[in-house]
Amino acid sequence: MVRAMELPPSLRGAVDRALEGISLADLKRSADILSQRYRAEVRDGRMHLSDDMAARAYLATRLPATYAAVRAGMEFVADRRPDFAPVTALDVGAGPGTAFWAASDCWPSLDDALLIEGSPAIRACGEALSQAASPSRIEWRSADIINGLPDLAPRDLVTLAYVLDELSSDARDRLVDRLWSLTADTLLIVEPGTPAGWQRILRARDRLLIMGAHMIAPCVHGGACPLAAPDWCHFSRRVARSRLHRQAKGAEVPWEDEKYAYVAVSRQPGPSPEARILVPPRSGGGRIALRTCNADGSVGERALSKRDGAAFKTARRLDWGDSL
Ligand SMILES: C[S@@+](CC[C@H](N)C(=O)[O-])C[C@H]1O[C@@H](n2cnc3c(N)ncnc32)[C@H](O)[C@@H]1O
Repeated sequence: MVRAMELPPSLRGAVDRALEGISLADLKRSADILSQRYRAEVRDGRMHLSDDMAARAYLATRLPATYAAVRAGMEFVADRRPDFAPVTALDVGAGPGTAFWAASDCWPSLDDALLIEGSPAIRACGEALSQAASPSRIEWRSADIINGLPDLAPRDLVTLAYVLDELSSDARDRLVDRLWSLTADTLLIVEPGTPAGWQRILRARDRLLIMGAHMIAPCVHGGACPLAAPDWCHFSRRVARSRLHRQAKGAEVPWEDEKYAYVAVSRQPGPSPEARILVPPRSGGGRIALRTCNADGSVGERALSKRDGAAFKTARRLDWGDSL
């Protein structure tokens, strides 16, 4: 049974308070519109989170999933870089502050966060939520990130979560370059785990490697990506759904699986794992089959059986996205 990720209690409580007394019919309507706009990747010059109801629908229906994806990406970074203890963070296209909450949960060292967001409606929600957070300094700024970011000092951790899909291709490239220049240590970019999301991650990855970034995750090498369409590199995180979340989505089950794609790079080289598991391991009949991306730049299948002893036992505990 896969365990569903829950929001940290202080964030869960702050979200519940933000949604108190809201009309379920209005929430459902806004959640439907939002979901259609995200699915169709609409770029019509209007912000998806342009009004208060859209912002609240985001809190109810998207924040738990984007939190889970970003938090999972951070876990993979922490796994590769146990020495990394960011104190300063920058989150761009912060929405309700999702990546900031995930970062404070992953790295208790975090003490000074700057969040940049263009929509006044979701920024207001985020500012209210962040009053329940622990880092001593949290600053919100309003800026249109298409027009470049204000003059800032580089920060230890820079995050960009579920934002590239809202920008034009040129604006994406400029933003990725600029974010790298603002990264003192680690940059994490997360996108929906669709083929299009992966293409955006792949393009950002290529640019970052050319600029001298060291690969942290998910790739176990800095060479060309060996995957080719219709294959795409993505991962999944199970997310707990609150009752309101289920009602707003008209869903039955108390969880959903959020598919995401991500890339994390650093200014510090780190030891590389041997391989990363690209799809859910398949087991049965005393055998486990793993499809992995390997440090030599290849993709391949490995099969383990009970005869492999300790390696088989280890493999039984491995999951999609884990490294070997
Ligand atoms: C899908 S939300 C993601 C929010 C948050 N990062 C998360 O993972 O939950 C994308 C966010 O980027 C913001 N955004 C999109 N285009 C922007 C722009 N040109 N300038 C500033 N913010 C922008 C949106 O307002 C929205 O809050």
